[in-house]
Amino acid sequence: MMRFTVLTLFPDAFRFIEEYSVLGRAVRSGLIALETVDIRDYATDRHGTADDYQFGGGPGMVMKPEPVFAAVEATLANIPAEDRSATPVALTSPQGDILNQGTVNEFARAPGVILICGHYAGVDERIREGLITHEVSIGDYVLTGGELAAMVIIDAVSRFVPEVVGSAENVEHDSITSGLLQHPLYTRPADFRGTAVPEVLRSGNHADIERWRRRESLERTLRLRPDLLNTAPLTNSDRVFLASLGWSGTSD
Ligand SMILES: C[S@@+](CC[C@H](N)C(=O)[O-])C[C@H]1O[C@@H](n2cnc3c(N)ncnc32)[C@H](O)[C@@H]1O
Repeated sequence: MMRFTVLTLFPDAFRFIEEYSVLGRAVRSGLIALETVDIRDYATDRHGTADDYQFGGGPGMVMKPEPVFAAVEATLANIPAEDRSATPVALTSPQGDILNQGTVNEFARAPGVILICGHYAGVDERIREGLITHEVSIGDYVLTGGELAAMVIIDAVSRFVPEVVGSAENVEHDSITSGLLQHPLYTRPADFRGTAVPEVLRSGNHADIERWRRRESLERTLRLRPDLLNTAPLTNSDRVFLASLGWSGTSD
């Protein structure tokens, strides 16, 4: 079981994960646990103040360090001692490393993940300096808060928790995870508005189907994401096929 603990000013936002589709089922069946911690509950004053004006002036409030430190420390104290140092404490931030399969795999191997959602102008720098193990961005743009970023991280990591999306085979063949982009997918009808499903997929010949899928996957990756070919696990016959499409062996 994978435990996500999310520190947020807006715990209700995470109802979406608890109730929706694959992740909702995973929560209900105990494959993943999602705990939300309201940062205001750890404020040091009666009013639950979690943000304050910036030293030096400037627009936007800054999230105070005391409640965030106290919330993370209380969360860590509830984790078995042997799991504490292996539990990432990740700040969502546009300044972080952009989320990729490597980080997703690393988090999926951990006993749990603690996610901190910033808001307003961001968080006090001492949170970054003294509390977190990771700073994760979900892309080069700025969100109003870390809640959606945390949900993206939870979704991507949960897919690698055994049984959340069925067998390991379900995720191994996905785009990026396999190292390539996936081949085209088709379902019924066999002919839709004049576009027919490729004949090979209806041939019942599994070797031909596999060969077609591999070639489509290679061709699509070369066309759309040639950078992936630098690290994709390629066989000799993949290389020969790619060379026939004009691939020179390296792509930037
Ligand atoms: C408006 S942003 C603050 C941005 C901050 N002023 C800066 O320039 O770095 C508020 C919060 O949204 C979250 N956030 C914004 N963009 C993000 C991104 N690309 N990836 C992950 N979290 C993001 C972070 O938690 C951040 O603290």
